[in-house]
Formats: sequence, structure tokens, C-alpha cells
Amino acid sequence: KTIYVLNGPNLNLLGKREPEIYGSDTLEDVERICTDVAAPAGFEIALFQSNHEGEIVDQIQQARDTACAIVINPGAYTHTSVAILDALNTFEGPVFECHISNVHKREAFRHHSYVSLRADGVLAGFGIEGYALATRRVISLLQGI
Ligand code: DQA
Repeated sequence: KTIYVLNGPNLNLLGKREPEIYGSDTLEDVERICTDVAAPAGFEIALFQSNHEGEIVDQIQQARDTACAIVINPGAYTHTSVAILDALNTFEGPVFECHISNVHKREAFRHHSYVSLRADGVLAGFGIEGYALATRRVISLLQGI
């Protein structure tokens, strides 16, 4: 029972990158807070980050066989990637889209998301806590709560 937590470009720099927007927590912190939610419920977290669109597509395809749900922060690909949307459309489990910042408070080009056409829920502006909230929701759905 594995939940994939997928992260797009520049999120490897989380904690160092524009901290006034994205905060000082790192992807390791994301992994820890998601595991804190998942482990007691018997789920595992597999966190992945890539700066390359095709690698994220590959991860989503792999998820078809090995993951029961996907939490994804596609970074800038949110606003551009039909390929990531198409890949997510091949995945049958719950998909939650997560943005650290409130994209709706920012530039207009961040207001549209291709991924939202597939996502069962979207979190934006909850900082890294959004990942933990999305994980919590995934587990509730999979447990039929
Ligand atoms: C982001 C928002 C995107 O617009 C941006 O390109 C990112 C991060 C967020 O987590 O707030 O890289 O997805």
C-alpha cells in the first residue's frame, strides 16, 4: 500500500528556493510529515522529484502498477503539461494536486492547471502541510471514510 508523492521541477531546491514564497521546509520534511500520517494507517510513502517532464510521466506510469494513490505537486508543469495530465488520466486511484503557495494569489499564468482536470482535490497555499492533508484525504478515501 504505497502512496506516491511526486514533485516537479525546482522542488529539489525546496527550503532554499524563494523562501519568502515556499518557506524553509525541505522535501525531506515533506517526506517525514506524509510518513507520519501514512505509517500509522499502514501505508508507505514513496517521494520522488524530477526536473524532467518525461521522468514524471514515467513515474505516473509506474504508479499504475505500484501505487494506490498519487499526491502531486507538478511545479511549473502544472500550467503547461498535457503529457502529465494524460499520464494521470491512465491512473485509476485517487489523485490530489498540491501547491505550497496559493497559486491563485499569484501571476495569472499560475491560475490555470491542466492537472486539475484530473485531480480529485486541489490544495494551494497550505505550505508543505498541504501534502500531509492530501495524504490524510487519500487514506480516508481508500479506507472508505
Ligand atoms: C508551485 C506553484 C507553481 O506555480 C510553481 O511553478 C512551482 C511551485 C507551488 O508549490 O506553489 O514550482 O507548484
